Amino acid sequence: MAGANKILVIHGPNLNLLGVREPEIYGNNTLQDINRNLRVFAKDAGADLEAFQSNAESGLIGRVQMAMNDGTDFIIINPAAFTHTSIALRDALAAAKLPFIEIHLSNIFSRESFRHKSYFSDLAVGVISGLGIKGYQLALEYALASR
Ligand code: DQA
Repeated sequence: MAGANKILVIHGPNLNLLGVREPEIYGNNTLQDINRNLRVFAKDAGADLEAFQSNAESGLIGRVQMAMNDGTDFIIINPAAFTHTSIALRDALAAAKLPFIEIHLSNIFSRESFRHKSYFSDLAVGVISGLGIKGYQLALEYALASR
């Protein structure tokens, strides 16, 4: 890979509610906490990190399409419920041809069967599921190490 100096973190629907939403599943950290930690870590490593959240499929697709032309080198994405439903968001990532890691805070395979299917995993560089916010950190370390 040419380099992951610009990393885009994309958060899907309802992740704006982290800290409030089912904390027994998703933990107590807010999305702001997660983004702040990632930004600091990236900056210390000399990389730019932008975080984007949307509850709308169109917003997420639009941001992925923008990433095709804004210098983004690597995407870390938690598609949230769209993981299990969105062929359109999958197609956007396939079109963008940017390397990405799929993240889930919870272990989607230990939950309801409708969460076991992901439309993204086969396109992803890798998948991290069930490690809570540590998953984002590990994905970022991978992106930075692949420069
Ligand atoms: C999630 C898992 C999804 O099944 C769920 O719809 C989410 C969050 C996770 O991070 O564990 O919203 O992606």
